[in-house]
Amino acid sequence: MHRKLTRSDQLIHQFDTVLRTLVPHAAQPSRPSPAGDTRDESLDELERRHAAGLMRINHTGEVCAQALYQGQGLTAKLADTRVQMEQAAQEEIDHLAWCDARLVELDGRTSYLNPLFYAASFGMGALAGAVGDRLSLGFVNATEEQVGKHLDAHLENLPRGDRRSRQVLEQMREDEAHHARWALEAGGTRFPAPVKWGMSLMSKVMTRSVYRF
Ligand SMILES: [Fe+2]
Ligand SMILES: [Fe+2]
Repeated sequence: MHRKLTRSDQLIHQFDTVLRTLVPHAAQPSRPSPAGDTRDESLDELERRHAAGLMRINHTGEVCAQALYQGQGLTAKLADTRVQMEQAAQEEIDHLAWCDARLVELDGRTSYLNPLFYAASFGMGALAGAVGDRLSLGFVNATEEQVGKHLDAHLENLPRGDRRSRQVLEQMREDEAHHARWALEAGGTRFPAPVKWGMSLMSKVMTRSVYRF
């Protein structure tokens, strides 16, 4: 039986999603990790720590993606695109869970700064959603493009022997490219270059701090 969600149902749902995003190992993927049965070549201690730093950045990126979609979900109308938005958000949960699982394998941990980045991204998503759907979708497009660039850089930068992380990042890159395309096709505004520079500056702050903390 379906009933209309009350305001308190929605609040509980939001809170549940926040916890699933921020509590390590709480996110449940809908697709198995692309790492599958792939075996790593040998990784020395330095390489393992470097790979964990990169995967920590990717994990935080996915925390931000969750927050962005949730913030938008709260304020955007998205009459025609809500289903696709929810589908994309589900794929981001997969990414979150895969990165988390890989961090465990690498003997790493998620970032202490995640609550901070979650709050900032949630606020930006809610703001964009309140302004209008075209801006909101444009924001998804610009963010996903940014994430795609990160993933390319990380794929270059991963230790050669780290084949399991590579499998995960390659599938993520494919999904993010799809999200970026979809957001434009759904009517998203193309962000002007200065806004994109601003976003890439912010993402530099994020990557530098999260690699270590
Ligand atoms: Fe993602
Ligand atoms: Fe994405």
